[in-house]
Amino acid sequence: MAIALSAPNFVYNNPAHRLVLGWGARNSLKAELALLGAKRPLVVCSPRAAVSPEVRALCDLLALDADGIYGGAMMHAPVASALEGGRRATMRGADSLIAFGGGSASDLAKGIALACAEEGRLLDFVLERTPDGSISSPTSKRPKLPIIALPTTVSGAEVTPGFSLTDEGGGKILFRDATLAAAVLIYDPELMHGVPLAIMAASGMNALAHGCEALYSRHSNPVSGIYARESLSCLYRSLYAIATGARGRGVYSELALGGYCAGVAIVNARTALHHAICHKLAPAAGLSHGIVNAIMLPRVLEFNLAVARAEITTVARLLGQPQATAEGAIAAVRELSALAGLPARLKDAGVSSAIFPGLAQQILREPGVAFNPRAVGSAPEIEAILNAAW
Ligand SMILES: [Fe+2]
Repeated sequence: MAIALSAPNFVYNNPAHRLVLGWGARNSLKAELALLGAKRPLVVCSPRAAVSPEVRALCDLLALDADGIYGGAMMHAPVASALEGGRRATMRGADSLIAFGGGSASDLAKGIALACAEEGRLLDFVLERTPDGSISSPTSKRPKLPIIALPTTVSGAEVTPGFSLTDEGGGKILFRDATLAAAVLIYDPELMHGVPLAIMAASGMNALAHGCEALYSRHSNPVSGIYARESLSCLYRSLYAIATGARGRGVYSELALGGYCAGVAIVNARTALHHAICHKLAPAAGLSHGIVNAIMLPRVLEFNLAVARAEITTVARLLGQPQATAEGAIAAVRELSALAGLPARLKDAGVSSAIFPGLAQQILREPGVAFNPRAVGSAPEIEAILNAAW
């Protein structure tokens, strides 16, 4: 007897990349470059990573000299760094980019690839929400340098075609171009193992937010949902274990897999109000994306309860909560954040509430607001969420 299946109509863009995941996987970098036919890479990383034993070892592996490293990845990836990196890559005659580090390194590598392709005209390709609410996203048609990403956190930036840079005033500018997404992803849990708990936990809360928002976004679809559900189970189990002192290989491997799945989940499903808030709040407050993500996630889940109760209840089940209720999911997120020693409130992180009215106006124009399941019609609604998180 045939089984009747039903699925909604949808379109899904499969991300085009090669994935290498495993303890010590960074040692495959030379072979991966050869597969791409690349001979002259530029390593993009933070100033601290540029002098780290890990990057030095990679440079030895590839026989790279000092010109082969651009240590310009700062928190929130400034536009100026992307332009400078673009000049460095062009002068070097680079044929590929290696993004080593957290989300800022991956975002900066995408910015550099765009700057190289378009001779510095980054601002012609900004993703914006127009006054009528639609999304404007001009994309560059020119060929790009391929990127190999070696993420040390679970930011998801290594997977997504979207990225953000910050302008001189500290405002975040968004971009989205599938041709800028990394061609090869090398997840080496051994690299993640060396990252301090505070940084990894904040990054983990960001990945957890990707999983949640991918489940309830207006662009959610059955395939993204598979990745989102897998990500939430992997991330919660591994982050809980790490926050309570576990250091085993298996835990970090599961964290890496969870981070990857969460990244894939948002490629099509996108992120919603939570990330819209964090994109503006983090640079304005001088905080990392992850810290702000951790503080805002329970608050935005509460806001979305009214229309996404079923999806947030699914989150509770995936987090293994005995009380599989939407409220149970929110409590579990709060508990994990506290266990990892992350701040619970914006005032604990030194944020002044005086910035909220202006910020709320900017957040209202963020593209992510359009993907939120609960309609957001005014800045005071966003201000109320910020005040509740303060
Ligand atoms: Fe994020």
